[in-house]
Amino acid sequence: MASGWEGIRSVRDLDPAGRHVLVRSDLNVPLADGEVADDLRLEASLETLRYLLDRDAAVVVASHLGRPTGEPDPALSMAPVGARLGELLGRPVTVASDIVGDDAQAKAKALAPGEVLLLENLRFDPGEKANDDGFADALASLAEVYVGDAFGAAHRAHASIAGVPARLPAYAGFLLERELEVLGGLQADPARPYVAVLGGAKVSDKLVVLERLLEQVDAICVGGAMCFTFLRAEGLDVGASRVEVDQIDTVRDLVARARDRGIDVHLPTDVVVATAFAEDAPYDRVPAAAIPEDQLGLDIGKDTGETYAGVIRRAGAVFWNGPMGVFEWEPFSHGTRAVAEAMAATEAFTVVGGGDSAAAIRQLGLDDRVEHVSTGGGASLELLEGKELPGVEALRG
Ligand code: 3PG
Repeated sequence: MASGWEGIRSVRDLDPAGRHVLVRSDLNVPLADGEVADDLRLEASLETLRYLLDRDAAVVVASHLGRPTGEPDPALSMAPVGARLGELLGRPVTVASDIVGDDAQAKAKALAPGEVLLLENLRFDPGEKANDDGFADALASLAEVYVGDAFGAAHRAHASIAGVPARLPAYAGFLLERELEVLGGLQADPARPYVAVLGGAKVSDKLVVLERLLEQVDAICVGGAMCFTFLRAEGLDVGASRVEVDQIDTVRDLVARARDRGIDVHLPTDVVVATAFAEDAPYDRVPAAAIPEDQLGLDIGKDTGETYAGVIRRAGAVFWNGPMGVFEWEPFSHGTRAVAEAMAATEAFTVVGGGDSAAAIRQLGLDDRVEHVSTGGGASLELLEGKELPGVEALRG
């Protein structure tokens, strides 16, 4: 099995002048009222695009947006993404009205060096997810060279991720390189103590990464709704909190094995509970061992936040994935804020996994105070699980 950079060419190795370059970026950004609501993935994609444009490439950008069902959906058109990308790039971005149809082909053909064409949402065609040969051939025919930069979608074996690089000379973009360097480095040789802070809704989504992380880290801090399954596994009564009953035994076993190996497993000692899952529900902070029967936990408590902040402060490296509570609602945002602030303040090498935790640290304006905010949610977890990513493997020559 090849690993690391073996066989992967960097965009730095490419002389793109005068050539048509197809860049697969992950521009799958949240939209609100028809406009881009978070620029993280767009900003992270700029370096590769600018590099190519400054060297006189004609750049065709391809991405998916959301999860359309293999047919056009006007609400998921790339048009607003193209508009915002153009603002950030400081040059016009033409958006094709199709992916590999007449419009895209004509616009790609007419594209001059230094110009950018954004194709319509790849997932409007069922051939994208199916990694269909005909669709991959058609995409590849739009360019002479391929640059893979869509780290956030690198765990999907789709046509634009796995099919096209098999058909064109393929290179890795800067975003992809940086993600692999940071996340690969965390796996290979993290500064110690290495701490994982894990939250989010479901243990079952995180079991594989938990297993893997528990072989690597020195300490783990657990929050989010999933901490209640951990607390139940410790024998505590968690009231009406969300518990994955079928995971209790697995979690108990996982924690016991981790502790046997000397890993510090930190669970909440206090939590914020409410009478209902609602932003305006009456709430209170209680010891984790005394959650009232009719209440459910929606955040870690203040003491727990301070404990986790202390663990982060003393760490050599920290990987954080998943909010500590329902951070979108002010009364239940404090645990996530405590972790984000500790991440920003520590001397440790700090990495925030993509998805909700990336959104949280950006909302708090602390994203430029951590070492790296990953643009990949699922992809960063799969990488840390030790899985091969199709979008990386496809780039190996
Ligand atoms: C993501 O948002 O994690 C990536 O863009 C992949 O999207 P997907 O989960 O819909 O494949």
